[in-house]
Amino acid sequence: MLLSWKPGLPLRLLLLLGPLCPCSPGALAELAPAEDVVVLVFSTERPVHLVSPAFLSFTIDANLATDPRFLTFLGSSKLRTLARGLSPAYLRFGGTKTDFLIFDPKKEPTFEERSYWQSQVNQDICESGSVPSDVERRLKLEWPFQEQLLLREQYQKKFRNSTYSRSSVDMLYTFASCSGLDLIFGLNALLRTADLHWNSSNAQLLLDYCSSKSYNISWELGNEPNSFRKKAGIFIDGLQLGEDFMELHKLLGKSAFKNAKLYGPDVGQPRGKTVKMLKSFLKAGGEVIDSVTWHHYYLNGRIATKEDFLNPDVLDTFISSVQKIFQDYWLSLLFKKLVGTNVLMASVKGPDRNKLRVYLHCTNINHPRYKEGDITLYALNLHNVTKRLQLPHHLFDKQVDKYLIKPSGPNGLFSKSVQLNGQTLKMVDDQTLPALTEKPLRPGSSLGLPALSYGFFVIRNAKVAACI
Ligand SMILES: *[C@@H]1O[C@H](CO)[C@@H](O)[C@H](O)[C@H]1NC(C)=O
Ligand SMILES: *[C@@H]1O[C@H](CO)[C@@H](O)[C@H](O)[C@H]1NC(C)=O
Ligand SMILES: *[C@@H]1O[C@H](CO)[C@@H](O)[C@H](O)[C@H]1NC(C)=O
Ligand SMILES: *[C@@H]1O[C@H](CO)[C@@H](O)[C@H](O)[C@H]1NC(C)=O
Repeated sequence: MLLSWKPGLPLRLLLLLGPLCPCSPGALAELAPAEDVVVLVFSTERPVHLVSPAFLSFTIDANLATDPRFLTFLGSSKLRTLARGLSPAYLRFGGTKTDFLIFDPKKEPTFEERSYWQSQVNQDICESGSVPSDVERRLKLEWPFQEQLLLREQYQKKFRNSTYSRSSVDMLYTFASCSGLDLIFGLNALLRTADLHWNSSNAQLLLDYCSSKSYNISWELGNEPNSFRKKAGIFIDGLQLGEDFMELHKLLGKSAFKNAKLYGPDVGQPRGKTVKMLKSFLKAGGEVIDSVTWHHYYLNGRIATKEDFLNPDVLDTFISSVQKIFQDYWLSLLFKKLVGTNVLMASVKGPDRNKLRVYLHCTNINHPRYKEGDITLYALNLHNVTKRLQLPHHLFDKQVDKYLIKPSGPNGLFSKSVQLNGQTLKMVDDQTLPALTEKPLRPGSSLGLPALSYGFFVIRNAKVAACI
């Protein structure tokens, strides 16, 4: 007998190894006693949810327009390539600064913006070159100072008004449309009349300009209105805000944006007084919004510790912020490429479920390698030991493609780069994302998930009826 039983080695592990063991010493060595096998339970008769293909979208902080010169970054072809990888998605332009930005149609483009547009003359705006390199270099040098200034505003909760020009709007819209993203623009809700009604005159100027350019934009009004008092010394209640949305809806109806979507009220964490505000907002303005929006924070990114990110209680507050663990981007890209819109049920048997988080979707069949009926399991292992996932019995002999994400280099979870199946991911050049290459597993093998890693597993030929 090649497999000797050791006291303390879980019986489950033996059961798994028994019939399937390739029985090479290497395979045994891989399964140190500290490792553990967990059994997955899938329920795939029917989808439990359907998510939008734009699920996992992102925001550009309106801070970037505080000094509109920095909007020129949006002309970077590298940034557009990265953004295009996540399409379809919404691009929300918003944040605290939303309510301190004023559109000035007479304002001239900055020197930086002008040199960007000049370099685009006679070229297809989406195909053409990047920001002139000397301009980009200088802006990058100056950015750390700008960042300090923005942080100071945030800590002191003292926000200054800034104005943005037609060119700024063009910059933002061009970035979104060239990257295949649907722009959601947050309008300033702190422009008020003496009796605290929303003063829509500045929004009207912006709507007029955007109509004249045939821009297709969805709208929001205000950012975290529940803390207007803290940020601006003005208290606006939910009822008033609801009426302000009615007003905006009326303006949209009279413009080229008759069919545009309106989202709101972008309140912060829904608790206490904020819930009260949300309720009265919905009473007064609920009928004119297309989606209710609120903001969820796992942690304050500036003070959070590594342990916070690994704390299941923190993650339980919502699901997807785990991507913060490893430099956002590549994980999001894999998600977009491999995960479809039908959500199935998956869980882990036993006591591990809290720190071993598993999700199951139909596979995104836009991926050339996969077809209808395939399913994608993705899992996050917050344990500090390897876990081995065992597929349910009926999927045992299926071919599985593994996409394992780990931090790259000596800094562990603080690393700035990530590996996919052992290869560090980086752009090939400014126009090209790297291939996301699968590692096919031997049918019947368990799905190894090292400590503190994230993995996608595409179960091929699964013929799951809910995915056909
Ligand atoms: C920003 O401008 C608006 C409109 O002019 C004004 O009501 C508001 O007080 C200004 N806010 C700050 C912080 O200067
Ligand atoms: C709204 O704001 C504009 C621009 O600042 C101003 O000219 C106008 O008088 C304001 N309207 C009201 C009703 O306060
Ligand atoms: C505007 O964009 C939305 C979202 O992509 C799309 O559904 C709609 O058809 C577009 N409208 C026009 C007029 O192109
Ligand atoms: C792994 O986690 C356990 C419990 O969470 C802890 O007691 C142990 O010290 C950790 N081991 C390492 C090597 O970090």
